[in-house]
Amino acid sequence: MAKENIIQKLEGYDDIIRENVVLEKYGFDYQAKKGEVRSIIDALHPAKLDLIVSEIVQETPSAKSMKLVSVDGILPPFQAGQYINVFVETGGVRTSRPYSIASSPTQTGYYEITVRRVDNGFVSNYLLDELKLGDRLTSSAPSGNFHYNPLFHGDRLAFIAGGSGITPFMSMIRELADKNLDRRLHLFYGSRIEDDVIYRKEIERIESVHKNFTWDLVVSEPNSSFCGLKGFIHVDLIREKIDGPDWMFFVCGPEAMYQFCLPELEKMPMPGRKTKIEVMGASKNITAHPGWPENVKAGDAFSVAIKGKKTISALASEPLMISLERAGLVIPALCRSGECSLCRTKLLSGKVYQPNGVKLRKSDRVFGYIHPCMAYPITDIEILL
Ligand SMILES: Cc1cc2nc3c(=O)[nH]c(=O)nc-3n(C[C@H](O)[C@H](O)[C@H](O)COP(=O)(O)OP(=O)(O)OC[C@H]3O[C@@H](n4cnc5c(N)ncnc54)[C@H](O)[C@@H]3O)c2cc1C
Ligand code: FES
Repeated sequence: MAKENIIQKLEGYDDIIRENVVLEKYGFDYQAKKGEVRSIIDALHPAKLDLIVSEIVQETPSAKSMKLVSVDGILPPFQAGQYINVFVETGGVRTSRPYSIASSPTQTGYYEITVRRVDNGFVSNYLLDELKLGDRLTSSAPSGNFHYNPLFHGDRLAFIAGGSGITPFMSMIRELADKNLDRRLHLFYGSRIEDDVIYRKEIERIESVHKNFTWDLVVSEPNSSFCGLKGFIHVDLIREKIDGPDWMFFVCGPEAMYQFCLPELEKMPMPGRKTKIEVMGASKNITAHPGWPENVKAGDAFSVAIKGKKTISALASEPLMISLERAGLVIPALCRSGECSLCRTKLLSGKVYQPNGVKLRKSDRVFGYIHPCMAYPITDIEILL
């Protein structure tokens, strides 16, 4: 076929030619379009969302799902696997926590989040015990990179979920079911006890009707009547289900789970870039991390001078952001896991410990910037806010 004919077959070709003719004749009135792009960007990426709790479901004894609708009726689109950062004020402290959106991106009327109780958890307990139908919440717009990318990830995806780490995968599985996607998914779902397995009925239903989706439940502390897979998700089980090196792995769960699963995955014959990880929540025991200074104990406290403002006391074992929030100093935050850079703050003097996984740019290291959401004071420090 001649080159001109191929071009004419492109979708939208006739529209562009017609528009060009009009532009050549009358020119373009930029004033008429002023603000149009800005308003589209604002609708797709608003700084904050005002939400109302429209439904609460007790999923398991320790977890509830909450459907959140928008006050003004518009929710920005998101990619399955992304989260929103939910802002709350409780006990006189303004703080926030990220929660993955568990609903399918095809569902544009609400976001569903599922919150699992954490022992002594500050925000999880507040959301589970205090939040009622009709209450209002503020959140960030959807964010995060823990989502599928068709250019890099292929069409065979293995999910390894621990506890509440099921939520981003639930969104991806629901999307597969809603759109009948031609993508192969296998879920390995690890839970301490059977009673804590979230979305079990729905996962079983989707598996029964979609040939592209399969799953395994692995329970580490089962009761005597449980006759499924017991223990942890280990390489032999993965090898049994994953036929070949072209699978992309997504891992999401608490720190304890990925410390066990990642070394298992390293035994698989695949390049490291075929694994994507999301860690949910700050470390339970930061002093046990590699590189933590031996002379600093969990109960130690250091002074944090905020230049030109005030000086506060901060526990070595808590992220600096939490100590600042306790003192009424709220800094911008999104991921609270060292990834998004929004909380980037200048460290003027002293030392902080930042665990592996904190995504500091080279320039941040050189010019002394830290991510307070994942920075632990290990000496007296001074920061600039
Ligand atoms: C990307 C991402 C997605 C996530 N998705 C989910 C999800 O779908 N479901 C889910 O359940 N979890 C999810 N999480 C984890 C979630 O964000 C919280 O970490 C989790 O709910 C525990 O929060 P918490 O405040 O209850 O506990 P913690 O923050 O661990 O609190 C523990 C301790 O700190 C104290 N404390 C903490 N903050 C303060 C404060 N400001 N003032 C005073 N005391 C304080 C508490 O008293 C308590 O002793 C996700 C995390 C990330 C990073
Ligand atoms: S809030 Fe994202 S890096 Fe700190």
